[in-house]
Amino acid sequence: MTPESTAEAVDEQLRDEVWDRLQARVLSARWFYDRRGSELFERITRLPEYYPTRTELAILERHASEWMRQLRPGALVELGAGSARKTRVLLDALEVERPGAVYVPLDVSADFLRATAEQLRSEYPSLRIEPEVADLTRALRLHPHGEPPTLFALLGSTLGNFPPPAAVEVLRHIRDAMVEGDTFLLGADLRPSEGKSVEELEAAYNDAAGVTAEFNLNMLAVLNERVGTNFDPTLFLHHAFYDARHGWIEMHLVTPQGCTVRVPGRGSVALEPGASLRTEISAKYDRRVLVELFEAAGLEMEHWVTDERGRYAMAFAHRLD
Ligand code: AVI
Repeated sequence: MTPESTAEAVDEQLRDEVWDRLQARVLSARWFYDRRGSELFERITRLPEYYPTRTELAILERHASEWMRQLRPGALVELGAGSARKTRVLLDALEVERPGAVYVPLDVSADFLRATAEQLRSEYPSLRIEPEVADLTRALRLHPHGEPPTLFALLGSTLGNFPPPAAVEVLRHIRDAMVEGDTFLLGADLRPSEGKSVEELEAAYNDAAGVTAEFNLNMLAVLNERVGTNFDPTLFLHHAFYDARHGWIEMHLVTPQGCTVRVPGRGSVALEPGASLRTEISAKYDRRVLVELFEAAGLEMEHWVTDERGRYAMAFAHRLD
C-alpha cells in the first residue's frame, strides 16, 4: 500500500468506529487528545479540584529516593508521557542512585518523544535517554535497554481510562515485557472512602472554571476535524458522575434538545432529546480490586503506598511465573 492509501484506510477505519460507537452512544477517550485536548488536560492537572496529579507527585516526592535506592534500576521505562514534573522527580532520584542508567519514555507520538528526549538529554547528561514509540493497547516489543533490573512505570492513573478487560490487556502487555527481577510501579486513583467523599471525587471532574467541560466538548471538534462529522458543540452539555456500582467516573456529552449527526460516507444518526454520549470512564480502585486486576494479568502486588488521606495509591508488582 502507498502511504496515501494507508492513510485512507486508517480514515475509513476511524469512520467505521465513530459510526458504530455513535449508535452505541459510547465514544472513545482516545479522541480527546489533539493539540488543544492535550493543552486542556494539562490545565486540568493544575485545577484546585483535580487532586490526582498533585497527590501522586507528593507521594513520589516523598518516596522516590528511597525506592530508587532499594531498586537501583538500570533502566526506567515510563509508559506514557515523559514531559511532566513527576518524571523529573523519578529521574532526579535515578541519577543519584544509578548514574548511567537508561530512561525509556514510551508514547504513541514520535514527535512528542523526539522533543521530550531532546529536552531531557540536556537536563540529565548522566542518564541515557532512549525513547520508543509504543501503543499500550498492543504487545510491547521493546529493544533491550540498560542493565537489569528494569523499573516499568505507568503513572497518572492512566490505567483507569481503560475499561476493565482492556485494563487487564494493558497490564498483561507490561507483564510480558518484564523479566524476573523487574518491578512494575502503578499510580492509581482510589475509590471514595473516609479520606475522600464522593463529592470531592465528582468535583475533580466538574471543576468550577469549566475546563473539564471544555476538554469533554473538544472531542466533538476533534471528530469534526478528523472524520468530517457535523457535531454542533453548542447543542451538548458536559455531565460527569461517580458510578458506585462499577467504581468509576463516567463522563458524558448530553444533548438536551437532540440533534442529527452526519458521518460522511456512512449516514446520519438521530440523537433523541436528552440523548447522552459516554466519552470516558475513569476507573477508581482499592487494594483488593487492584490485586485482582494484577493477578488476572500475571502480576503480583508486593507493596502499596497511599497519601495520608488515602485518596491515591502507588502499587508495586512483580511478574508471576
Ligand atoms: C488521563 N486521565 C487519567 C484523566 C482521568 O482523570 O481519568 C483524564 C481526565 N478526564 C477528565 N479529567 C481528567
